Amino acid sequence: MEMNQKSNRVVFMLYPFQGHINPMLQLATILHSRGFSITLVHPQFNSPNPSNHPEFTFIPISDNFSESKVSTGDIISIVSALNKNCEAPFKQCIEQLLKEDDHHDQISCIVYDGLMFFAQSVADHFKLPGISVRTSPAATILVYEVFPRLHEQGYISLLDLMSQDQAPDIESLRLKELAAVMREKTTDGIVELRAALTDSLKKSSAIIVNTMNFLEQEAVKIIQEMFPASSIFTTGPFHKLAPSISSSLLKEDTNCISWLNRQSPKSVIYVSFGSMASIDEKELLEMAWGLADSEQPFLWVIRPGMVRDSKGMELLTKSFEERIGERGCIVEWAPQKEVLKHEAVGGFWTHCGWNSILESICEGVPMLCRPFFGDQNLNVRFVCDVWNVGLELESGKIKKAIRKLMVDREGEEMRKRAKDLKQKVDMSLKEGGSSYNSLNDLAEKILSF
Ligand code: UDX
Repeated sequence: MEMNQKSNRVVFMLYPFQGHINPMLQLATILHSRGFSITLVHPQFNSPNPSNHPEFTFIPISDNFSESKVSTGDIISIVSALNKNCEAPFKQCIEQLLKEDDHHDQISCIVYDGLMFFAQSVADHFKLPGISVRTSPAATILVYEVFPRLHEQGYISLLDLMSQDQAPDIESLRLKELAAVMREKTTDGIVELRAALTDSLKKSSAIIVNTMNFLEQEAVKIIQEMFPASSIFTTGPFHKLAPSISSSLLKEDTNCISWLNRQSPKSVIYVSFGSMASIDEKELLEMAWGLADSEQPFLWVIRPGMVRDSKGMELLTKSFEERIGERGCIVEWAPQKEVLKHEAVGGFWTHCGWNSILESICEGVPMLCRPFFGDQNLNVRFVCDVWNVGLELESGKIKKAIRKLMVDREGEEMRKRAKDLKQKVDMSLKEGGSSYNSLNDLAEKILSF
């Protein structure tokens, strides 16, 4: 493909959390491999490590953001604060970059994490095209932003929307089953955030979603109708198109791979709740004894800070350790993509973060689901009801659920369906597949700016 020498540089604006940094750095890697130069602008908080990516230019901007804000777990106020605090420094940064622009490397567009929607206003200000990236499923745009907003504006009744005859197109997404998700309590903060998010989508030149067309065809179709001025690209799963990069903020403990090498095929349940979810001491102990009682080998990530008001791992007693012996491996952070690819892993007990789900289906691994917040409550429905590659954990039934997933016939059938899903993912990435084509179209689109 001929590269337009004049607009070769893509500027990224990151949202500073692991589940967003990973897919954005993967996307940057993909575009870099297509010949674009990459500048990554990021808040100082949770800075990615530039030395892992000498091919990119990193620019930190001030964020006036503190760890204490994060510990509240109030995502709405975290997103609002970042949008408020980062806009002026980002504007200055773009202004500076435009001054420095040389003729061979001009800024072509701004690619921003959809949650950093201020970046669209900055792009508009400088008359640059803005591209919004959704790191969760396309359906989140409908369920969390578009439909409730239409409802708030009095255009549509949620109940009508849920009824079959009113919305035949979205029936296959089982939105009827998502009623509970959509009826989450609405606060002024949420209403404001939704308005800002949808406005940025409306103004964007393109929307990239880390998903595959075959998973979300209808959602994508509706979104395209809702935002006719933006082109929608379903170019996922990004990590498969940019396989070799690591963007972990915590150090990956690779000892668990040697431990996995000693386990039988498909015997291990991998347990991880991503980078943000937290549990209390009671839940940690229930998990520990459930894993012990299941008699299955397990690899368990207990992240620092994951157990609220506690030292986490130190809660596990001598008697637990003696009981599990070599059967369990516990780490603070795992090389998750490598773990899920390992032949010893037969199931994934997950919090249903979208990256975790994509990584799991790409390796044909069925899931035991324990969602916490936000899109995880939507993602679990895809896994358990739409694709049937996982089961939801019922409280107090850990041992039974693990056995069901890892040993019983029901789990075996889920594993078969997960394998089918994996094949479909592989097809979409091959030449002529939907993600493959979408990436070519995206590169063309950026070159056309
Ligand atoms: C957050 C939200 O919670 C999630 O719902 C949303 O879709 C994205 O942002 P997070 O909770 O961190 O993300 O979960 P997830 O999306 O699964 O991302 C976690 C990432 O960390 C994955 O890429 C996973 O591979 C990686 N990881 C996790 C590791 O590399 N090692 C670990 O031990 C655990």
